[in-house]
Amino acid sequence: MPTMRRAFPIVAMAGLAACQPAPAPEASAPPVDRQVLAFAQGACGGCHAVEANALSPNPEAPEWPLIVNRSGLNEETLTTWLVDAHNYPEEMDFDLDAPQVEDLVAYMLTMQSEDYEPPIM
Ligand code: HEC
Repeated sequence: MPTMRRAFPIVAMAGLAACQPAPAPEASAPPVDRQVLAFAQGACGGCHAVEANALSPNPEAPEWPLIVNRSGLNEETLTTWLVDAHNYPEEMDFDLDAPQVEDLVAYMLTMQSEDYEPPIM
């Protein structure tokens, strides 16, 4: 009975999927540039939560909503930070080109919200 045997890996995969962070709601997603989001997930998502209501895989890496809702952060400071990211800290040794920085900043700032509340750690 080959169908029975094939059922097992599927069950195992379903179990794994349940441990992943909740995916972004597909249907009612806000107008976020999917390519930017995909880039953020690939380049940064290994450490940071790059979307609202998620916890960072790397506890040392602040959730992006937390970063952008810090007082004093604005487009300019965030841009400067990302351009100079290779200086500090060690984990953040990457070089982004100008359009990438621009896209990431624009995307990250969509998570700014006046009634933001930090997640309970
Ligand atoms: C290997 C893990 C790792 C990756 C990948 C990573 N980060 Fe970080 N990031 C960190 C850690 C750790 C911190 C906290 C540094 C600290 O506060 O000392 C941080 C902090 C930051 C900060 C906040 C700086 C501040 O004001 O404290 C920003 C913004 C940021 N990361 C953006 C990004 C972006 C954009 C990417 C992808 C291009 C990225 N990070 C990829 C680990 C990572």
